[in-house]
Amino acid sequence: MQNVLVIGANGNTGRLITKLLRDSSEFKPYAMIRKEIQQPFFQNQGISTTLADLEEDFSEAFKGMDKVIFAAGSGGHTSDEQTTLIDRNGAIKAIEYAEASKLKKFVMLSSMGTYAPSRVEGLEHYLKAKKAADDFLRKSSINYTIVQPGGLTNKKGTEKVEVAYELKKTGQIPREDVAKALVYALELQRTKNMSFEVISGENDLKEAMKNFKQGA
Ligand SMILES: NC(=O)c1ccc[n+]([C@@H]2O[C@H](COP(=O)([O-])OP(=O)(O)OC[C@H]3O[C@@H](n4cnc5c(N)ncnc54)[C@H](OP(=O)(O)O)[C@@H]3O)[C@@H](O)[C@H]2O)c1
Repeated sequence: MQNVLVIGANGNTGRLITKLLRDSSEFKPYAMIRKEIQQPFFQNQGISTTLADLEEDFSEAFKGMDKVIFAAGSGGHTSDEQTTLIDRNGAIKAIEYAEASKLKKFVMLSSMGTYAPSRVEGLEHYLKAKKAADDFLRKSSINYTIVQPGGLTNKKGTEKVEVAYELKKTGQIPREDVAKALVYALELQRTKNMSFEVISGENDLKEAMKNFKQGA
């Protein structure tokens, strides 16, 4: 069993990720959450929790972990300052802790559109924060995969997707499918040190992750 720290576990995607990991035969999830009141949701499902906050020192959360999925975010209705604190600085701290703890894999939930943040009106600051964290991860010594989805929905997952290094079009994707992609990225050797954008489409998710062409 490999221990996987899920950062942002109480989020809409994070909850799906922890459930997938709990049901897998290979991984044991540790849900990183920031409030005690959030514990019963996980404990009632047999999922271990770690109390920690991205705005503080959360290095302790990495003790005994093998891999990490970063699925936290400041949310769409917060200030630019909060976006910088969580999506950029929180993610960068997580990468530093993962490197220091010699983790075997860092899977990042980023966003589509980070290659040209100024092209997406209203999201420029957010996309720059995501890009800064992604670029920091790319330059780190840790084995990583960066998953960059289009708009997230709560529709049922189909595992039918379109994947490319850069899709050059917009689209949406259910959080269930994004959660699957993140979990597949933990185990697929092929995605080592790769980034890809993903939206709903016609291709099998796992196959698409094995076959897309890596860009620049
Ligand atoms: N929405 C979209 O269309 C879209 C598209 C592409 C990519 N994304 C990215 O996908 C990711 C997940 O999205 P989502 O909608 O599933 O997220 P979400 O439901 O907003 O969950 C985000 C999680 O981050 C946690 N978090 C925030 N600040 C924290 C802190 N200081 N310490 C610890 N945890 C903290 C939150 O904790 P609490 O539960 O305690 O508040 C929450 O559980 C985000 O990074 C987002 O940027 C979103």
